Amino acid sequence: MKRDMAPKAKGGLKKLASCVGRYKTPSVLAALLVACEVVFEVFIPLIMAQIVNVGMSEELTDSFTFELALGDMHQPVFTLHNRISFIVVCGAIMVVMALISLACGVLSGKFAAVASTGFASNLRQKLFYKVENFSFANLDHFNTASLVTRLTTDVTNIQNSYMMIVRTLVRAPFMLIMALCMAISISPDLSIIFGITLPLLIIGLLVGLKVAFPRFERMLHKYDDMNESTQENLIGIRAVKAFVREDNEIKRFKKVSETVQKLQFSAEKIIVIAFPFMQLLIYACILFIILFGGRDIINSGNGIKNAAGLTLGDLMAFLSYVMQIMMSLMMVAMIFMTIVMSRASMDRIVEVLDEKIDIEDAPDAEDVLPADGSIDFDNVDFSYSRNSDVLNLENIDLHIKSGETIGIIGGTGSAKTTLVQLIPRLYDVLDGSVKVGGVDVRRYKIDNLRAAIGMVLQKNVLFSGTIKENLMWGNPNATQEEIEHAAKAAQAHDFIMSFPKGYDSDLSQGGVNVSGGQKQRLCIARALLKHPKIMILDDSTSAVDTATDAAIRSGLKKEFGDTTVIIIAQRITSVQDADRIIVMNNGRISAIGNHQQLLETSEIYRDVYTSQQKGRSDDDNEGGKQEWQR
Ligand SMILES: Nc1ncnc2c1ncn2[C@@H]1O[C@H](COP(=O)(O)OP(=O)(O)OP(=O)(O)O)[C@@H](O)[C@H]1O
Ligand SMILES: [Mg+2]
Repeated sequence: MKRDMAPKAKGGLKKLASCVGRYKTPSVLAALLVACEVVFEVFIPLIMAQIVNVGMSEELTDSFTFELALGDMHQPVFTLHNRISFIVVCGAIMVVMALISLACGVLSGKFAAVASTGFASNLRQKLFYKVENFSFANLDHFNTASLVTRLTTDVTNIQNSYMMIVRTLVRAPFMLIMALCMAISISPDLSIIFGITLPLLIIGLLVGLKVAFPRFERMLHKYDDMNESTQENLIGIRAVKAFVREDNEIKRFKKVSETVQKLQFSAEKIIVIAFPFMQLLIYACILFIILFGGRDIINSGNGIKNAAGLTLGDLMAFLSYVMQIMMSLMMVAMIFMTIVMSRASMDRIVEVLDEKIDIEDAPDAEDVLPADGSIDFDNVDFSYSRNSDVLNLENIDLHIKSGETIGIIGGTGSAKTTLVQLIPRLYDVLDGSVKVGGVDVRRYKIDNLRAAIGMVLQKNVLFSGTIKENLMWGNPNATQEEIEHAAKAAQAHDFIMSFPKGYDSDLSQGGVNVSGGQKQRLCIARALLKHPKIMILDDSTSAVDTATDAAIRSGLKKEFGDTTVIIIAQRITSVQDADRIIVMNNGRISAIGNHQQLLETSEIYRDVYTSQQKGRSDDDNEGGKQEWQR
């Protein structure tokens, strides 16, 4: 049932962008501040050039002018008459600019952190909200482990990318362009070297990324598998131990973990090779610049001006810009890498956000509670795959009066659970209709419908917290008296009181510290606290002994007489007192009637009854739990 990798999510970015919400301002501030940081950083080499030029100058002059030079434009800013003072003032300006740049960088980092963590938190909440509203059919599409990965690791990947986007995606191109302009304005001749190395670098980068991308994607898919297998294993660790499957599981994990390692190595290899290659090009570039620029400076005799009109200071500034340009290119490569790594995460997140919730309130749903506990199935067909060729329930016509007690019995997989799940609209019918209180379940607001139905699921769970907190899920405003009343009807009160802390005893996650039968009784009490009009017990007393089972049924009858009760069971003794018993077979109703009628009319019922009776006399303790023949 688990889905493979997400399909390419359309409009995904737009969907994610809507989660930025009130973190737009810090995002914009982070981008603006990083731009300021770059501006100051880019001007520093220019000042350095003036210090070097003046410091190295052997000219006998008594005025030193600080000028902003861009290409042929020279804008004098101030003039000093002492060489040392000039150098000190320029040095001070440099320090101030470096400090401002630093402050901008720090502030930008802070705003980017605020924005990205806020964005991630919004995204996580949106995902959680969506998952909480999933119908059972939606939940069938995603496995739990993968949802956990999506809400944690995937959101963190997106968060990191977002941080990168607001900072580096502004910083790198901005710095590249500014530094390139500065370098060209210092020496268009030397900039020709870029004309050769830059395209080479960009081609190398693109080739590297093109080869690495699919490898990273493959690695991420496998990573996903590894995460899923780990989580599934940890959730089911008790079953692993019970079947002494540890060695197999360890081997399986080792295999998938080694595959991840292999794929990761093959992807990282490209990067590891690409970076020294890029550095080689950078240093080659620097060497050529020093060679051509420096040779003329040396040849010019005084070491100050070369033939192209380049000073030593200019050459040093030029080299700084080379470094800035190359660094920004490296950053661009990093951004691409991060974006690729997080694209798979984005697809997976968008897949959850895009999942169409198939069970929702109809726009014209009536805001009323069901009038009574009557249930009508009118020619119902149902299929989990929404395919009329593969029906799980076929042509169900069933009418239950309010207050009736109905037993449902049938072999494993005969669709007992499927049948009752249609009543609280956990799934929708494919054809026909299910009515509660005389109204189609699709006409109610879901909250209203479910408020009237107490359902104890076959795979029930309790949550961490005290017994009382768990029971109060049924009714958050229940008094202690009401809680005890429900617990007594479910035959849970006595064992709860036997715990040292009674109703305040802590339950571990999933209720692992109570026995199977105790857990079932707590779940029944929890549903009873709702005072439902319809109570559905899906194999809910399978783990309790026959005497307690009978006591629960008589408690229900006595205390909740008006409630329609549906009891699904494997043991005939659990249903034989019911007003009517439904025998399910292969997704169809095979027979309906009371115990006596069914003994006479239904062969399946009679056979099972006989075998269970025999089972009881053979083994009194088992209570006649026989396998049903299909
Ligand atoms: N979520 C699901 N998705 C797809 N098929 C399902 C799903 N749940 C059940 N089925 C299929 O529907 C059929 C009926 O299952 P159902 O759980 O209703 O049987 P059941 O009578 O309650 O059995 P049991 O006595 O074991 O609880 C089975 O063939 C099962 O494989
Ligand atoms: Mg079932």
